[in-house]
Amino acid sequence: MAEIKIPNHVGIIMDGNGRWAKLRNRPRTFGHKKGSDNVDRITTEAFKRGVKTLTLYAFSTENWSRPKEEVDALMGLLEKYFLKFIGKAVKKNVRVCVIGDKKVFSPKLQKVIKDCEDASKKNTGNVLNIAINYGGRQEIVRAVNNLIKKGKKITVESISENLYTTKNGEPDLIIRTGGEYRLSNFLMYQGAYSELYFTDVLWPDFDEKELDKALDEYAKRNRRFGGVK
Ligand code: FPP
Repeated sequence: MAEIKIPNHVGIIMDGNGRWAKLRNRPRTFGHKKGSDNVDRITTEAFKRGVKTLTLYAFSTENWSRPKEEVDALMGLLEKYFLKFIGKAVKKNVRVCVIGDKKVFSPKLQKVIKDCEDASKKNTGNVLNIAINYGGRQEIVRAVNNLIKKGKKITVESISENLYTTKNGEPDLIIRTGGEYRLSNFLMYQGAYSELYFTDVLWPDFDEKELDKALDEYAKRNRRFGGVK
């Protein structure tokens, strides 16, 4: 059987938790809980299939405008996720990095994130970036300001080197679940040449089969990076 071309780095916009819950007459927070349970499953399956780096969009800089109850529930789920991960970090050999502005999180969330990053920083296997309070435009502005502060020249390369994801390169594939066809401020700079895959499937229903569909579609794409092939 011919080897299928696997993307090195995949970004996922995990959309549709709220609608998934609404379809079941349950509160939106129930959908986020289901969505959160799906994170481990898809992460494991993607890594099993040969994806090296995953970047998951968990909370955007714009998501603060949601009702307080929903924001609190999401922050609580994230806290639980990192806490659980710390115990498994060594076994998993996955390095976790949170990308986004962490300063505004509760001290407790900041601590579990730091503990998780510290516990996994020597791991040499896969990389899992979780974007929280993340905005692609803000990331670019931050990179440019860092360069100005250091008196460095602004170039395509220097901006790229000052992004949160600098060590992990650019996503080969960005998947968005939940039926919307947009990037919503996710990896705006790094995604310049990413292949995009949109599916109507809501994030809590995005299972191994759906992941395989996305990877199969990626394998068929002809990436030209502006050139001719
Ligand atoms: C979008 O669905 C989803 C989010 C804003 C949050 C994503 C968060 C998780 C999957 C859970 C926590 C994450 C981790 C890493 C443990 P939506 O609420 O916009 O759904 P809707 O479009 O149907 O309303």
